[in-house]
Amino acid sequence: MLQFDILTIFPEMFPGYLNESIIGRAQKKKLVKINQHNFRDYATDKHKTVDDSPYGGGPGMVLKVEPIYRCLQKITRAKKKKRKIILLTPQGKTFDQPMARRLAKLDQLVLICGRYEGFDERVRSLVDEQVSVGDYVLTGGELPAMTIVDAVTRLVPGVVGEEASLVEETFAKKGYIEYPQYTRPEKFKCKIRQQKAEILKTPEILLSGDHRKIKEWRGKQAGKKSCRRK
Ligand code: ADE
Repeated sequence: MLQFDILTIFPEMFPGYLNESIIGRAQKKKLVKINQHNFRDYATDKHKTVDDSPYGGGPGMVLKVEPIYRCLQKITRAKKKKRKIILLTPQGKTFDQPMARRLAKLDQLVLICGRYEGFDERVRSLVDEQVSVGDYVLTGGELPAMTIVDAVTRLVPGVVGEEASLVEETFAKKGYIEYPQYTRPEKFKCKIRQQKAEILKTPEILLSGDHRKIKEWRGKQAGKKSCRRK
């Protein structure tokens, strides 16, 4: 079983998303375990301080290294063969599908969520990897952590159906784009951007019942740049 340990000062941000749908079911089926740890609980002063002003001056506050360190000490005590400690930061390596596949093979994945203006530089020394979810700056590492838990959990065997994992194997190659899908109604009348009415049709071939031709069409559509959204 893959165990996630998320270090955050906002643990209540997680259950709303992670306890629902596929990830929620994966937890109930004990295919993954997701723990949140409030590293504020590991601050030793009576005010439970997790941040402080930067040495040398400057604006904002900096997350302190000790509470994060103490929390890490506790959750990495158990012997785990395959464990990675990741720090979420916009300066990290960009998260992608190959990284998700690599992380899905671990026993324990520790995710540290930064906050505020940043963290003490020494936090970086405590981790195996630094990961970003994209070239933009969020207010903290909580959404990136959820993104990683989501993308990694769906790759754990048994979480999504066999069919979906096969698709993963066959098609999750570099730059692959899935073929377009349609469901009822066959024709959909609408006004796009409040302009004149149009009928958006399902491609004839998908209604033909000719499975060989459908497969061929899907093969051609998959990977087409035109399948990408505008
Ligand atoms: N924290 C703030 N922005 C982030 C990003 N883009 N990726 C990972 N962690 C972050």
